[in-house]
Amino acid sequence: MTPQKPLLMLASLCMCTAASGQRPEEQNYAQFASFPALGSLKAIERPSGPDWMHNAVIYQIYPQTFFDSNGDGIGDIQGIIAKLDYVKSLGVDAIWVNPFFESPFRDAGYDISDYYSVAPRYGTNEDAKELFAKAHEKGLKVLFDFVASYTSIDHQWFKDSCEPAPNAHSNWYVWTNDTWFDGMDNYMAGFIQGYCLRNGNYLQNFFWSQPALNFGYGNIDPQQSAWQLPPNHPEIMALREEMKNVVRFWMGMGADGYRADMASTLVKRDDEDKKYTRAVWNDIREMLNKEFPGTFTVAEWEDWTAAKGGFNSNFLHWRKPFYDLWFRNNDSYFLPAGKGDITRFLALYLDQREKSGDANYISLTVGNHDLPRVNRWGRDKADLELIQVFAFTMPNIPFIYYGDEIGMRQLDFQSGKEGCYGTRAGGRTPMQWAGGANLGFSSSAPDKLWLPVDDAADAPTVAAQEKDPDSMLSFMRELVAFRKAHPALAADGGFYPVYAQKDQYPFIFIRAGGDEKLLVAINPSATQASAQIKGTLKAKRRLIKGSECKWSEKGDNTIISVPARSYAIYSLE
Ligand code: GLC
Ligand code: CA
Repeated sequence: MTPQKPLLMLASLCMCTAASGQRPEEQNYAQFASFPALGSLKAIERPSGPDWMHNAVIYQIYPQTFFDSNGDGIGDIQGIIAKLDYVKSLGVDAIWVNPFFESPFRDAGYDISDYYSVAPRYGTNEDAKELFAKAHEKGLKVLFDFVASYTSIDHQWFKDSCEPAPNAHSNWYVWTNDTWFDGMDNYMAGFIQGYCLRNGNYLQNFFWSQPALNFGYGNIDPQQSAWQLPPNHPEIMALREEMKNVVRFWMGMGADGYRADMASTLVKRDDEDKKYTRAVWNDIREMLNKEFPGTFTVAEWEDWTAAKGGFNSNFLHWRKPFYDLWFRNNDSYFLPAGKGDITRFLALYLDQREKSGDANYISLTVGNHDLPRVNRWGRDKADLELIQVFAFTMPNIPFIYYGDEIGMRQLDFQSGKEGCYGTRAGGRTPMQWAGGANLGFSSSAPDKLWLPVDDAADAPTVAAQEKDPDSMLSFMRELVAFRKAHPALAADGGFYPVYAQKDQYPFIFIRAGGDEKLLVAINPSATQASAQIKGTLKAKRRLIKGSECKWSEKGDNTIISVPARSYAIYSLE
C-alpha cells in the first residue's frame, strides 16, 4: 500500500452482481484495517477555484420558507436579508438560495418563465442586488440556482416554440418532427403529445410542465435524424449563448456562483461520459474564467464527470451507497440499530475522487430540499450530531440545509404543494425562528403559509436554542468553528481510511493538512464497537473533540474501542 496515494489503495474491493436499479460500481465495498505511515500523510493538491472554497461551509436557503418579511405567508428576499446576521453567526462562508425567478410555480420555482426577473412573491431584482451587496458586507458569498436543462411551459421561448410557423425558438426545445412520428414505440416515454398546434411532441425534463431545452443528441438515432439535432446545430449554439447571458446577468448583479440544477441531463441519448454535456458546461466555465474569475459552481450531477465539466463541486446524494448512510429507516449506518455498512459508501466515494482526479470537491450534503429531513423516525440529538460530525470531518464541502442546524424534523405532509409531493413537502416547511405564532416565520394567518409550520409542542426553534449551550444549534456553531480551525479537515486535507469493515462499526480515518494529522473515529451503533487495526500508531495522541476511546495494543495490532453512539477526534502529534 502506498500511503501517499490513499485513493488507489482500495484494500479489498469486491465486485458483486448488481441489484436492479444500481450501478455496478455501487456494489463495491472498500475495507481497511491498518494504519498508514504517518510521515507521508499530506493534503492533496488543491483544485483550481476561488480561495474560499477550500475550507468552505455553505448554507442552503429555501426562499419560500426561510423568513417572510411582509406577512403574505411566503418567505422572500427581504426576509433573507433580515436574517443574514443569523446566517453569519453560524460561521458559514456562503449561501445557496433555491430559485427565486419568475415562475408559475408548478415545481416550486425550478420551472422558470423568465430568467432575468425575480418572482414578485420574492421581491424585485433590486432586492436581489441588495441581498448580494449586504451578504458581501458581512463576508458571505451568494450562489443562485441555475436551471439550464429546461424552462417552464410558460416561458416565452417555449410559447414561441409551440408555434407551427418556424421561428428563432422552434428548435430551442426537443420536439419530434410529427405528432404521429415513426418510432413512437421507442420514444414516447417522456414526450408530451397534443399540447399545442405545432405538429410534434415535446420532451419533458422533469414534470410535464418542464420542457427540455435542446442541447442536442450525443448519438443521433439514424431513424430519427429528422428531429434529433447534433449538439453543435446553429440554433442550439444560439441557445447556449443565451444561457451564458443568463449567467452573466446574475453574476453581473453580484452573485458569486451557482448551483446547477440537473446539470448532467443537457445532451440526450448516449452522451458517453457526458462528453457533450461537459462541453456545454466547460464553455460556460471558460466564459466565467474570463469575465468572472473566482466563480464557484456546484452541480447536481452525481458522478466524476461533473469535475471534468468544470464544476468546483458536485453532490453524491442520489447515489445509493451515500443515500443509504442515513436515509433508510432500519439499516442505515447512522442509526443505533447498528445494521449499516460503511464500506459501500467508502468504495463509491474513493472511486469518485480518484476518477475526478481530485479536480473538484465532492459535497456530502446531509440534507436538501429534495431529500427528507435527516431528523426523522424519532432520531435524537446524539444521532444527528454523529451524522454532522461525519459530514464535517470527511473531505468535502459541507452544506447545511436551513433548519438542520436546529434539528428541524421531517413532517408528515404528503401535499402536492407546487410539486412537493411525498417527503419533499415534509422537508420544506417554514424555518422555526421562535415560539409563538407561525414559529416566528411569518405574521400571516396560519392558513396563508406556504406550508404549515411544525405544530409539535416541542418543535425546535432558534430562539430557544440560542440560549442553550447544549443545543443542536450550539453544537453546529462549534462544529463549523472546529472545522475551520483545523486545516486537516478542509476539503483539500488528505484522507486515509484506517478502519472500515463490511457490516462493522466503527469507522476510523485520518485527515492530514497544514501541520496536523487528525484521527476521527465514529460509532453510531448502540453498542461499543472495537476495531482491530494492523500496526501501531507511532504518535502521541490527544483527544480534541468527542469522547475518549479505549486503546490497547496486542502484538502487532492496535485495538480501538469506541463507546456506543459516540465519536472521537484525536490530534496525532
Ligand atoms: C432538481 C431540483 C428539484 C427539482 C428538479 C427539477 O432535482 O433540486 O427540486 O424538482 O431538479 O428541476
Ligand atoms: Ca413574503
